[in-house]
Amino acid sequence: MEETEVRSVMDNQGTEPIIRLENVSKVYQMGRVEVPALRGVDLTIWPGELTAIVGASGSGKSTLMNVIGCLDLPTEGTYHLRDRDVTTYNDRQLSKLRGDGIGFVFQSYSLLTQYSALHNVQVPRYYATGRGDSRRAKELLAQVGLADRARHKPTELSGGEQQRVAVARALMNDPFLVLADEPTGNLDSASGQEVMDLLKELNRERGLTVLVVSHDPEVSSQARRVITLEDFPTLAERVARSPRRTRLTDISFYEARAQFEKEYLQALLQRCKYNISAASRMGEISRKSLHTKAVKYGLIEATEKTKEKVREAEPVLA
Ligand SMILES: Nc1ncnc2c1ncn2[C@@H]1O[C@H](COP(=O)(O)OP(=O)(O)OP(=O)(O)O)[C@@H](O)[C@H]1O
Ligand SMILES: [Mg+2]
Repeated sequence: MEETEVRSVMDNQGTEPIIRLENVSKVYQMGRVEVPALRGVDLTIWPGELTAIVGASGSGKSTLMNVIGCLDLPTEGTYHLRDRDVTTYNDRQLSKLRGDGIGFVFQSYSLLTQYSALHNVQVPRYYATGRGDSRRAKELLAQVGLADRARHKPTELSGGEQQRVAVARALMNDPFLVLADEPTGNLDSASGQEVMDLLKELNRERGLTVLVVSHDPEVSSQARRVITLEDFPTLAERVARSPRRTRLTDISFYEARAQFEKEYLQALLQRCKYNISAASRMGEISRKSLHTKAVKYGLIEATEKTKEKVREAEPVLA
């Protein structure tokens, strides 16, 4: 299954990016004070990707999501969404683009409290067309496992259920992009996982492009691509005293996992003073597999015998 996932992302490399940010900066004006929130960000997202955006509080994650979701325009740089330069759009055009094509899920669910789940799900359709579609809303509620809660108001639903209503609402207009800012932030881990499972299923089965902001490593580790935002100057910039940039570290899940595994095995081996048997027991990993991986990551020297084996194993491990 992992193989097909890789292929589906690779295939997109021939098509057009869905999101293309070039040198995007966002400065908030607070009276006379300027608050820079994003500086010189370049980012390309391909159709069908599931990407996690992580980074410290204040590093600009929500600002980036607001720009990508056309809730806010950058103060500098260009943003192409499906090959259209949205920085040239006026408010009405932006709002149409959002309503027709982008589904939003927020940490605080943002449901209308006085209306039933069934009505809440239809809200984006009312905005877009002035009319609801209760049949479609019912289908979506069924899809998120809430067919029997359609008549409930948000206060009569658990947090996890409310967030699933919010996911159904995000899908109402058949978006090409779903943006979720801390969707699991207010949920316990089981309900959070249910929401993540939904987003993953939509991505896998419908090829929907999904961006998820999260502080939770449990969430970001489920994305195939993880982008870390950091807001600090590079060495060159410090020397030149030039403005700071937002730094983007962009790694695929496979690299992230390999990096994680390497660090983990290194710590395990150090702890056991490089005794493979002891480390294998402590890490609950077979000796053979530990040895092969440790050689692959350059943590131990390969003997002539293992070199052959590693070479054989390489295509599988790579
Ligand atoms: N509307 C606003 N007006 C002024 N400054 C803002 C505004 N929104 C965000 N900022 C500032 O921009 C910077 C980035 O904020 P942002 O909300 O994007 O961070 P974040 O990474 O989402 O943080 P968190 O993890 O806490 O949600 C912060 O310094 C913040 O204070
Ligand atoms: Mg935020």
